[in-house]
Amino acid sequence: RSVLRDELPGAEVMVISNREPYIHNLEDGKVMLQRPASGLVTALEPIMRACGGTWIAHGSGSADQSMVDENDHLQVPPEAPAYTLRRLWLSDEEQDGYYYGFANEGMWPLCHIAFVRPTFRASDWEQYVAVNRKFADAIIAEARTPNPVVLVQDYHFALLPKMVRERLPEATIITFWHIPWPNPEVFSICPWKEEILSGLLGSSILGFHTQFHCINFLDSVDRFLESHIDREHSTVRAGNSTTLVRPYPISIEWPPTALASQPPADECCESVRRKYGIPIGTKLAVGVERFDYTKGIADRFHAVGSLLEAHPEWIGRFTLLQVAAPTRSRLAAYRETQVEAETAAAAVNERFGRNGWVPIILVPKHHEPEDVFTLFRAADVCLVSSLHDGMNLVAKEFVASRDDEDGVLVLSTFAGASRELQEALIVNPYDIRSMGEALHMGLSMPAEQRRERMRLMREMVSEHNIYFWAGRMLLDAARMRKRRNIEYSIE
Ligand code: G6P
Repeated sequence: RSVLRDELPGAEVMVISNREPYIHNLEDGKVMLQRPASGLVTALEPIMRACGGTWIAHGSGSADQSMVDENDHLQVPPEAPAYTLRRLWLSDEEQDGYYYGFANEGMWPLCHIAFVRPTFRASDWEQYVAVNRKFADAIIAEARTPNPVVLVQDYHFALLPKMVRERLPEATIITFWHIPWPNPEVFSICPWKEEILSGLLGSSILGFHTQFHCINFLDSVDRFLESHIDREHSTVRAGNSTTLVRPYPISIEWPPTALASQPPADECCESVRRKYGIPIGTKLAVGVERFDYTKGIADRFHAVGSLLEAHPEWIGRFTLLQVAAPTRSRLAAYRETQVEAETAAAAVNERFGRNGWVPIILVPKHHEPEDVFTLFRAADVCLVSSLHDGMNLVAKEFVASRDDEDGVLVLSTFAGASRELQEALIVNPYDIRSMGEALHMGLSMPAEQRRERMRLMREMVSEHNIYFWAGRMLLDAARMRKRRNIEYSIE
């Protein structure tokens, strides 16, 4: 962990993201904290706990500013303050245009192959520009030094790097894109493609999860922007700034904080089965996500149907427990995803359920990290069937939760995590029958093989953990800063 501070000694660290790490909600007149279901937060929060600094994010809970802290500089985590959380408040108009509109109806479907048509509206774009500017102003107001390390997160802030670069030319701006980057044909749908590209190229470093996404990005720049691309060194020079474009596969804290409070795996097995009325001795698969159309939730329910049809011996002896946090529900595509999944689950349950037993239990509710870990530890199989996903940290968290070295991961080939977790049973979520077969294989796998696969995956995640991810980016940033100092001294 010390690499964070060693590489950039004395540097001021700022994280910018839309989603805040602690949401303050008002429940029965009391302020309650919620930790959001967000891969971005899962990954970045341990980094900020380790290295301190300021995290600027959109204040999203139902407890407003005055109920929590008048000047909105909170010291978090509440139990052991390690960094400052500065929240920005957005009007309904800003929120609709920037977050629901441009980010989640435009960029999100543009970047994910899930066959949901991106919608681009000029009014959303205006709010997106305005909110990016609002965050840029906050960075300038919060920065105490002329050369902070600014960690810009995700597709909500494509314009921010350039806006910050113009006002803090010496800042080290590291932007990480947590979702896939599409090929140039798809990217060309975006009416503001040049602005998005040149905004991102204000970054010193631009990171993606995979080499494939870096190539798609460079190809998009090549096609639509006046620039010099050095493919060998993976840099882009546009105007007078140079950006290093590299893959940095994101990961999780190791060991995860949520593991510390967990009872032994067999106790988790019992408590989860008791809680959901699943008979002891029944094999359990779990799925944990936000109710997002990219996650392939209905598809995995169909796969359960296929499993039970092809292997009726599992009828009455297997349950899939799916928890899904409602998300972005103001958008029709998200409400439809939930209805589609509920309909699929009901159809499979009706066809195969008997004597009080049902194959699919769907719990459409947010779960805190500790509860998610208990589910993981109770499971025989964890099922991640994303239709497209930048990385997918659920897969890595499942592996991290299994210090008993048991459990089988069934993982979509279209999640970035499948590049690293090759001992998972890799599936194509569009191929329902093979997904059913993979479930059968996972449920029937001999203990020794389960252990061997889990051990290898745990080795991978423990080494390539979130500190390794941040360390590699900061090492690259430190090199750039040193090289720039040499260049200045030569000039
Ligand atoms: C993905 C995105 C994150 C986002 C998360 C949850 O992981 O890459 O930026 O925070 O989804 O989505 P939400 O819209 O609730 O923040």
